[in-house]
Amino acid sequence: MAKYKIALMPGDGTGPEVLREGLKVLEAAASRYGVAFETTDYDWGGDRFLATGEVLPESGIEELKGQDAIYLGAIGHPDVKPGILEKGILLRVRFELDQYINLRPVKLYPTIETPVKDKGPEDIDFVVVRENCGGLYTGLGGVARKGTPHEVAVQQMVYTRQEVDRCLRYAFETTRKRNKTKTLTLCGKTNVLTYVYDLWERAFLEMGEKEYPDIKCDYAHVDATTMWMVKNPEWFDVIVTGNMFGDIITDLGAMVQGGMGVAAGGNINPDGVSMFEPIGGSAPKYTGQNVINPIACISAGQMLLEHLGEEEAAGCVEKALVAFLESRVLPGLSVKQIKESGMSTTKIGDAIAEWTTKV
Ligand code: IPM
Ligand code: MN
Repeated sequence: MAKYKIALMPGDGTGPEVLREGLKVLEAAASRYGVAFETTDYDWGGDRFLATGEVLPESGIEELKGQDAIYLGAIGHPDVKPGILEKGILLRVRFELDQYINLRPVKLYPTIETPVKDKGPEDIDFVVVRENCGGLYTGLGGVARKGTPHEVAVQQMVYTRQEVDRCLRYAFETTRKRNKTKTLTLCGKTNVLTYVYDLWERAFLEMGEKEYPDIKCDYAHVDATTMWMVKNPEWFDVIVTGNMFGDIITDLGAMVQGGMGVAAGGNINPDGVSMFEPIGGSAPKYTGQNVINPIACISAGQMLLEHLGEEEAAGCVEKALVAFLESRVLPGLSVKQIKESGMSTTKIGDAIAEWTTKV
């Protein structure tokens, strides 16, 4: 029996509520395939920070290194100044565990409504591979003459060839593995960012030509990418891009696939410990009300299983999710629709867990 060590980071707001359901579904699917989990809870988040003044305990990152994966609910607390928890927990884990890939599937599931007119599940199914440690997030820069009319602030977009290459390699491999249209699109801005995205483009074309002749290499500027994502999402198979562009286009991706409530992501270190999360926020005003849909967190759990190599269990989570959506007991994903239909966070989790035994 395969047994994995999973770190649970429920986090803030409704994070714990959705993570509970995610784990429920994960365990239900996994048990069918002889997979089990040994979980450890980490109470990192706003409440702990407000009570102790500490964001992460000294030993925090080291403890995570001993896990097989991390499953995160949500980070963000209304009483904590923006940036403290995001930088102190989320970004710190990404950087220190060198989770250099942020993998964000943009997939429209049946019955889920997309705001993109005349597009359906057959049109909206692509993956964004976002570089997750470098670029504008590296943190290089500074400020001088602060507070004066002559203040100057610099925040630099930094990339090394090695950072670019390892991200591109992951994207090429992902495209090959998906085996869909075998098209990898580099999303850049080579007409303006003529140093950084020139580096990306040269590295991209070189790797494509030398090592991935079976993959079609495509290119789109970031502004055009946002346009095509809405106008012709079916053109995309896999998109690879730097950290900041990836952050922006994946929020658009989340909307295209039906909203933050369905979008999941993986912070991946292919040779280390990876972290999976629903990409929506902690929705603090709904805390404790049991009204948030846990689908994004359940999808994050599916990605976690896939990452561990438990393809069958991962497939089971996805099939159960689709079966649940097709059963139409949930008319939509908003808080209002969940309340009106008599469903709840827990009931949705229960129903999807139940479906894992039948699909
Ligand atoms: C995301 C978030 C984070 C990011 C924030 C919370 C630091 O927006 O995961 O996309 O910018 O990466
Ligand atoms: Mn973001």
